[in-house]
Amino acid sequence: MSQHIGNVSINSDALWNDIMTTAQFGGTPKGGIKRLTLTPEDAQVRAWFKTTCEALGATVTADSMGIQFARIPGTDPSLKPILIGSHLDTQPTGGKFDGIVGVLGGVAILRALHETGHKTRHPIEIVNWTNEEGSRFAPAMLCSGVFAGLFTENYANTRLDRDGTSFADALKSIDAAGEEPCGQHPVAAYFELHIEQGPILEAEEKTIGIVTGVQGMRWYELTVTGQDSHAGTTPMSMRADALQAAARLIASVQDIARAHGPDAVGTVGLVECKPNSRNVVPGEIFFTADFRDPEDETVRRMEDAFRQDIVALSEEYKVDIAFEQVWDSPSVKFAPPLIEAVETAARDLSLPARKIVSGAGHDAAYLARIAPTTMIFVPCAGGLSHNEAESATRSDVADGATVLLRAVLATDQKLS
Ligand code: HGY
Ligand code: MN
Ligand code: MN
Repeated sequence: MSQHIGNVSINSDALWNDIMTTAQFGGTPKGGIKRLTLTPEDAQVRAWFKTTCEALGATVTADSMGIQFARIPGTDPSLKPILIGSHLDTQPTGGKFDGIVGVLGGVAILRALHETGHKTRHPIEIVNWTNEEGSRFAPAMLCSGVFAGLFTENYANTRLDRDGTSFADALKSIDAAGEEPCGQHPVAAYFELHIEQGPILEAEEKTIGIVTGVQGMRWYELTVTGQDSHAGTTPMSMRADALQAAARLIASVQDIARAHGPDAVGTVGLVECKPNSRNVVPGEIFFTADFRDPEDETVRRMEDAFRQDIVALSEEYKVDIAFEQVWDSPSVKFAPPLIEAVETAARDLSLPARKIVSGAGHDAAYLARIAPTTMIFVPCAGGLSHNEAESATRSDVADGATVLLRAVLATDQKLS
């Protein structure tokens, strides 16, 4: 089935087939995907991306951070490329659509141009950003951050996962790095198609999210150090119980978010307990915290409240609490002309649409710092994401890719 825009169309069957085919790389028994960045499963999908894009006439390269670019030339070689992309790495219990819809929506555009022979003025590049999720190597969007000049290559290369493997070694382990230094890459504009990962579009029966920006977010790492001791013989008054102190702090992340307004969110997603033995009072807890809000000032106020709780609980529980802010991604606004191109495309296709701010982080948040950027959302069932049950419909994905195609072609005509 095709959806025609002039003579260029998205082959929605091929797009859906690509989504189902790539879901096998790291596929889990529950129907999700475990494809952490720079793992053998990531190497499989990267190889598939390269082969598939080359078969559609693209030249596929990678930069020093392993970011993949599938390029087709434009009619005017003096113009910078329009980039279309997202990420193919997933959460440990990820779904079939987060990131993947954006990269494969770009592949669908390559296929549409290849099959119709339509030539754009600008070169078109489909991008697979390395380590968007930040699940294995914090922070999230690490490599689009290097690409946009927020982080140095050395900072990225020295990030360690929880097993102590460095980003550089993981990059080497699947031979993902290319010759091009990351960040020397011209960009005329950037588009990213993504599932909303929240409940708004579905609840309002909208097919298209016209994304106007991304909310602010900060990540923290905490190590609470008490003293290992015997569960049976250590009187309660003599304990330096790191887990009890951490539990109070973890509860305060939720309380702080709830106290800071309707859009604020706070999450503790990673907790490690040492020695993790049932009859030892835990001496050390490592955990992460994630605060977000559309207003940067609210994120800052949540951090202040959290710091106050840390001081108070450290004294009350006689434990040491090491606290580090490991990531600060301020809120971002996208480019009005590109937002308008998306809005026009949705209207011309008579697709129900609404403007929306992204609650999730995306590589587009960093691209917006160096080039005109915007995003397009499509709904996901129940707003559920970062879950193996994540799902989207074939028609919504096709409509999203068609809006993407149309917005890109319109921008290609307008942008000099
Ligand atoms: O954390 C995020 O919002 C994104 O999924 N990396
Ligand atoms: Mn994503
Ligand atoms: Mn994600």
